[in-house]
Amino acid sequence: GTSLRTLAEAKGIYFGTAITQGDLNNAALTTIAGGQFGMLTPANEMKWDTVEPSPGSFNFGPGDRLAAFAQANSMKLRGHTLVWHNQLPSWVSNLPNGQVQGAMRNHITNTATHYKGKLYAWDVVNEPFNEDGSFRNDAFYRAMGSGYVADALRTARAADPGAKLYLNDYNIEGLNPKSDAMYNLVKSLKSQGVPLDGVGFQAHFILGQVPSSLKANLQRFTALGVEVAVTELDDRIKLPASSADLAQQGRDYASVINTCLAVTGCVGLTQWGVGDADSWIPGTFPGEGDGTMYDRGYRPKPAYTASAEAL
Ligand code: XIL
Repeated sequence: GTSLRTLAEAKGIYFGTAITQGDLNNAALTTIAGGQFGMLTPANEMKWDTVEPSPGSFNFGPGDRLAAFAQANSMKLRGHTLVWHNQLPSWVSNLPNGQVQGAMRNHITNTATHYKGKLYAWDVVNEPFNEDGSFRNDAFYRAMGSGYVADALRTARAADPGAKLYLNDYNIEGLNPKSDAMYNLVKSLKSQGVPLDGVGFQAHFILGQVPSSLKANLQRFTALGVEVAVTELDDRIKLPASSADLAQQGRDYASVINTCLAVTGCVGLTQWGVGDADSWIPGTFPGEGDGTMYDRGYRPKPAYTASAEAL
């Protein structure tokens, strides 16, 4: 059949996937990644611990290999991520507060300059909020307060004026205290003229629990003048998955896609990983998995069929 990529592009959106450097050695996986998807997010290779493992020493090789794969397959590329509390080397979290801003600016400037002209977008700040909507008390917040977000966005814009600049988080898909916090942050940044183009909704969903307020929530963000994207879609199941579960998963995928299509300013969706064998879910949520559209043998699941139909 027609690829997800082609179907999505015909509707004016993109459909992407995330892969790792190691995935490049998996022929079944790369055939699907390059054939079915029009956007690539490096799952780990542009994170701080890979890119700048020690102060001022930059390692762009892994990210470059994934960028080359994207280019060879005419895929858009999403930079993930410049400022995040996780996969952050301890040399950063151990810095005295007075040195964090300099390290952050240097990291952003070097990384965004290296990839300048190659990226559709950067996830400039990833996961700034706690579940209750307060700011996460990470190294950046401790050193600079909430102003680190504006500082990071301005620094990224100066280094790569062509990349769209995003804030990205999880559990902000529905209307709740955490999405309220992101909404208020975006509103405040836009009113101050801080460069910000989009909000990424990770969308790590649980089977049958796609929030019913997804559409209303996305629409309140686009009303602020930013685009929105589903950036890390998966839909995890308590293992072993039954055929009823897989059918429900198809309905979940279709509802997310239909919602994006129904929201002007929703520019696309990215699934986090290609197949169930590659997904991060079993490692992070023991006993759960099978969250993607492809089974462990890279055969399309009901979620694939439902997605193609929704597109
Ligand atoms: C995950 C990767 O997929 C794993 O390989 C890694 O071990 C941990 O990080 N939210 C994010 C992503 O923004 O960067 C995470 O990716 C998944 C959760």
